[in-house]
Amino acid sequence: MSTQSMTQRITAPEITGRKAKNGESEPIVCLTAYDAQMAALVDEHCDLILVGDSVGMVVHGLSSTVGVTLDMMIMHGQAVMRTSKKALVVVDLPFGSYEDSVETAFKSASRVLMETGCQAIKIESGSYAPETISYLTERGIPVMAHVGLRPQSVNVLGGYRARGRDQKVATEILNNAVAAADAGAFAIVVEGVNTKLAEEVTKAIHVPTIGIGASKHCDGQILVTPDMLGMFEWTPKFVKKFADLKGETEKAIKAYAEQVKSREFPSKEYTYKTK
Ligand code: KIV
Repeated sequence: MSTQSMTQRITAPEITGRKAKNGESEPIVCLTAYDAQMAALVDEHCDLILVGDSVGMVVHGLSSTVGVTLDMMIMHGQAVMRTSKKALVVVDLPFGSYEDSVETAFKSASRVLMETGCQAIKIESGSYAPETISYLTERGIPVMAHVGLRPQSVNVLGGYRARGRDQKVATEILNNAVAAADAGAFAIVVEGVNTKLAEEVTKAIHVPTIGIGASKHCDGQILVTPDMLGMFEWTPKFVKKFADLKGETEKAIKAYAEQVKSREFPSKEYTYKTK
């Protein structure tokens, strides 16, 4: 990779530099991508692409993100890096690949950066996270933190309900965000919290908040791309479906099946001529 192609991408410090001052700055546009085709489409319009461990649920049909492995994340990260050119690419560290020690986290994160060529990783940030964030950042790995609803903790939380409605949990989320930012996170995903808490977190930290189900009071927004494209019947309350790809895909597959059965397809137009 040439130095020029490396410098064309948006960098982690550039994302940090877009923290809104007095609520004023252009919101940071982020989406997830897991494959080469979608990465190329998303790259055109986004500042940041997240190769999220949501890949486990939306691509691999797992019931949660807990079963996602580091090898899976690396494979999807490589695909996204091949066709994206401009956006900052962040790859999730999956459950079990970073929590037990800073050394484990460094091994996993350095593998991700070296084998995919992405520029940053994301970790879900509980009380253990600040030490990991500063350890990785000092060693050259930009870290995006993730607070609020943390899907990798679904078995502790008992589901995917919004977090921080009671004061104790709200304070814990705020403290986690402040600690992650102070430890060197370049941005923080805030998931599944109410407007008041999103506003408080955004005001309290000096790096951008990227909201998902966290109101408009964040410095940027992210959604799981197949959700916003309408690929699934059910989506969380905070997802706006900007298209109906499930409906369109079903229609196309049904039409194809009908035309194959009736021999309407392939017609002459789609058939090689004999010489
Ligand atoms: O895995 C993912 O896609 C995420 C987003 C929901 C932020 O973490």
